[in-house]
Amino acid sequence: MYKIEINSLDKLKALGEYIGKNAKAGQIICLNGNLGAGKTTMTQSIAIGMGIDAYVTSPTFTLVNEYYGERNLFHFDTYRLERVDEFDLLGFDEYLYSDGVCVIEWADRIVDFLPEDYLVIDISVAEDNNSRIL
Ligand SMILES: Nc1ncnc2c1ncn2[C@@H]1O[C@H](COP(=O)(O)OP(=O)(O)O)[C@@H](O)[C@H]1O
Ligand SMILES: [Mg+2]
Repeated sequence: MYKIEINSLDKLKALGEYIGKNAKAGQIICLNGNLGAGKTTMTQSIAIGMGIDAYVTSPTFTLVNEYYGERNLFHFDTYRLERVDEFDLLGFDEYLYSDGVCVIEWADRIVDFLPEDYLVIDISVAEDNNSRIL
């Protein structure tokens, strides 16, 4: 397992933008970590890196937010799922096989439904509160 320490918000954003710039169509990016770790912040930066011209916020009333651009971004927050099998029963797994980039917060909840190939980023908050371990 690869670990890096990011010691500022700006550096986490820069990493997210880099990932967004380089994300391939159909790629799945899983973000795990507690509330406040920086999953949504990372997703916002991925969107910026993808050239998406919209302010990304966590899906609150839906499970997924869709952003359309040169490459589409599908942003999931599975925290809201009451039962994890809803993900697959309601057909959300179709997004995973589309040509959009899928970013999934709390992805470890739905790991059983993921295709073979995905990137996982676990974010934890370091003691100083500003740093993050990835
Ligand atoms: N190095 C850092 N990386 C990410 N977020 C940070 C960092 N330092 C401080 N923060 C703050 O922590 C909060 C993370 O919130 P958010 O991205 O919504 O987390 P999550 O989606 O994991 O619950 C934001 O308010 C952000 O400004
Ligand atoms: Mg979030």
